[in-house]
Amino acid sequence: MITNTGSSFTRGIPANYRIERLIGTGATSRVYLARHIFLRRLTAIKVLTCDFAEWPDFDLDLFERTAVSAAQLHHPHIVTLYDIDEMFARPYLLMEYVDGWSLHALIHRHGPFPPARALRILWEVALALAHAHSAGVVHCDIKPGNILIDRRGTAKVTDFGLSQALNQVDRSPLEGMVAGTPEYISPEQLLGQRPDQRSDLYSLGVTLFEMLCGESPFKDPSQAVIFERHLEASRTALLRRLPQSAGPLIDVVGKLMARHPRNRPQSARELLAELRPLLQKAPRVPDIHTALLRIGRARCERGSRPTRFPS
Ligand SMILES: Nc1ncnc2c1ncn2[C@@H]1O[C@H](COP(=O)(O)OP(=O)(O)O)[C@@H](O)[C@H]1O
Ligand SMILES: [Mg+2]
Repeated sequence: MITNTGSSFTRGIPANYRIERLIGTGATSRVYLARHIFLRRLTAIKVLTCDFAEWPDFDLDLFERTAVSAAQLHHPHIVTLYDIDEMFARPYLLMEYVDGWSLHALIHRHGPFPPARALRILWEVALALAHAHSAGVVHCDIKPGNILIDRRGTAKVTDFGLSQALNQVDRSPLEGMVAGTPEYISPEQLLGQRPDQRSDLYSLGVTLFEMLCGESPFKDPSQAVIFERHLEASRTALLRRLPQSAGPLIDVVGKLMARHPRNRPQSARELLAELRPLLQKAPRVPDIHTALLRIGRARCERGSRPTRFPS
């Protein structure tokens, strides 16, 4: 068995893997970069950090069923799940490693995206959702932290269905359970209704807003205030915060973030049909690695002030 540092999470990692480093942490997990010692392939290992033996609500069957559905998804814009296992009552997942950044990190480091880049990412995530939804898998936690961007700028969605398994989403967060992530959760999930594909589209609308504006539409220290804003009927004030340069994407945000699912695009395919003409007109964007190199050079020349994402 390959062991790494003293961390108890890494003691049980499968024998053929060597942990290289910690990539990042989430609310209930740590993600490590690991290398298969024979194949030399890099893999991401996500270890859930809660001790499920002491969590009476945790439903291992549901977790396993979700993982089985997620493992059937093979798509260029979905992070492939390779394996799941459990060690010391802590489940872990082995998945495709994406060499890049999370969308969350890119927005917070570089501010708002030029509309053409935001549109490109929106398009790729919508393709991923169309594929997953047609296989009956609803993500339930679409947010910038679950969208990974590789060095060429390709978006890949990760953690399909995981929050559903971890949060038992058929209970209402208003009654004390938090399902998904408060800033991105759909109004119907908040009210304890079962999410469907349109709930993912709502969360994608919040994510698009954040790409265009540089911050979440519902940023507030109070979770109760965030929940109230999700449930408001009108999005007019919120859409006014978007830059005019976003053009037709402002309308797309408004439709995706409609309070009632019936007023949103009814499927990711319908969204793709709306986006196609916009994409055909949009200017080409340089790959992200080149764009970031340009930022790095600009920073060296001007000191270390934060630099806007170039178009
Ligand atoms: N497959 C992966 N490849 C590369 N990095 C990943 C992968 N999965 C997750 N990460 C990184 O690890 C961080 C933590 O992920 P996660 O535990 O899912 O928390 P969250 O989704 O709340 O950000 C992510 O923000 C991302 O930067
Ligand atoms: Mg995640």
